[in-house]
Amino acid sequence: MELTTDRLLLRRWREEDRDGFAAMNSDPVVMEHFVSVLSRAESDALLDRIEAGFARDGFGLWALEERSSASLMGMTGIQRVPFCAPFTPAVEVGWRLRASAWGGGYATEAASAAVAFGFDTAGLEEIVAMTTPSNSRSIAVMERLGMQRDRDADFDHPRIPAGHPLRRHILYRVQAGVHSQPRT
Ligand SMILES: CC(C)(COP(=O)(O)OP(=O)(O)OC[C@H]1O[C@@H](n2cnc3c(N)ncnc32)[C@H](O)[C@@H]1OP(=O)(O)O)[C@@H](O)C(=O)NCCC(=O)NCCS
Repeated sequence: MELTTDRLLLRRWREEDRDGFAAMNSDPVVMEHFVSVLSRAESDALLDRIEAGFARDGFGLWALEERSSASLMGMTGIQRVPFCAPFTPAVEVGWRLRASAWGGGYATEAASAAVAFGFDTAGLEEIVAMTTPSNSRSIAVMERLGMQRDRDADFDHPRIPAGHPLRRHILYRVQAGVHSQPRT
């Protein structure tokens, strides 16, 4: 399953994407709000897990390609939250773009298509998004998508060690029928 928007193609991953994916995942600017950058092996393993998720669920974090240049800009999509928390089971929308692709509205454009797929094709009733309170760029995407913060749902990320400054996370939600075209 591929999704297209005015400027973007959301497609399955190819072997030749691994270099670009690893470059993005090793960039400290891109990974500022994560516990660490990814090694090449960690990046390859993540790509393998993403592709396994597509095979299992029929959706996942798509490779994001700029249609005009066919260049890989990052990933955007929906996936089952891969850990237990008070709000799971749930499907989350997520995004990670190479730094040179920030500031053009691409993440919001791609995420809007992914959310629409989740509601209209996958039949989901709700999609969540999560991040650290410090990740203002990601929070801005959530708000442009019309997602609402659930202030009662702040949580400690179970995969981040106790005491780590990035452990506390905030949760946004959007329900089917509420999602509309993003505000730009
Ligand atoms: C989070 C992330 C995807 C946001 O990317 P982004 O480019 O800021 O987000 P958008 O696609 O919504 O683009 C919005 C920006 O593009 C601008 N823009 C330019 N042209 C635009 C257009 N045609 N349409 C819409 N917005 C446009 C907007 O004005 C806005 O600019 P601003 O940041 O100065 O306010 C990116 O910062 C990233 O990959 N971060 C690292 C990974 C990460 O933290 N992921 C989230 C983990 S929870």
